Amino acid sequence: MDVTRDKALRCICVKSRSAVDLLHGLATTRSIRRYTDDPVDPDDLRSILWYAGRAPSGSNRQPFRFLVLRDGPDARRAKSLLGDAFRSGWNAKREADGYRPSRFADSMQRYVDRFESIPVVILVCLDRYREPDPTEGASVYPACQNLLLAARAHGYGGAMTMWHLGVESELRELLGIPSNVGLSACITLGVPEGSHGPVRRKPLDEIVFDDRWEAPADWVDGSTEEPQ
Ligand SMILES: Cc1cc2nc3c(=O)[nH]c(=O)nc-3n(C[C@H](O)[C@H](O)[C@H](O)COP(=O)(O)O)c2cc1C
Repeated sequence: MDVTRDKALRCICVKSRSAVDLLHGLATTRSIRRYTDDPVDPDDLRSILWYAGRAPSGSNRQPFRFLVLRDGPDARRAKSLLGDAFRSGWNAKREADGYRPSRFADSMQRYVDRFESIPVVILVCLDRYREPDPTEGASVYPACQNLLLAARAHGYGGAMTMWHLGVESELRELLGIPSNVGLSACITLGVPEGSHGPVRRKPLDEIVFDDRWEAPADWVDGSTEEPQ
């Protein structure tokens, strides 16, 4: 088989997938942790990051930075550090939360076991201009969500994770990340092996109050169906 041609064809297929409706995308974009071996096309990646960068931030300071790990030498070293951190993170969570064998546990195990082969890993960073503040994440997480939604629109899938924190100091040293920059999230991206949605979320009447704390809103119901 001509591997280069095959990859090129798969790239074209990914690029030609049509964008999903915005509201349907919001309703069905879930964490994707199973990826095919297909690459993320650089044009798609540029577009995904462009949309991520359109996110709002306090005073429009745009402190978010995207450190993209693909297949350069430092990226490979970083992915190897991250792979170990993800395996430890999942091991600890599986023990602590008492996960039994299940589809979810299997897919998590596969995710961490194959971490190094994930095509694109993005460290979403916060370039601080003042002392760390409890609300500072509000200027970077909207960009993360934009990124995940834009990836979805381009036919990719991703997961936002925090297990990079286990090797934060090693990553800082390896990748030259200054001390004033926070490592807010680690997003993995690839072509989904499964499909998106539907997501499992609480019904609206559990999360919306009207007028007073915990006062029910009689204009919402307990349905979890996507509104028409
Ligand atoms: C702040 C935050 C931290 C998360 N950390 C991790 C993580 O460390 N590892 C992981 O596999 N998923 C992580 N996730 C993904 C969540 O587990 C996932 O969004 C949630 O279980 C709902 O599943 P869904 O996105 O598939 O609907 C994180 C998500 C958020 C928003």
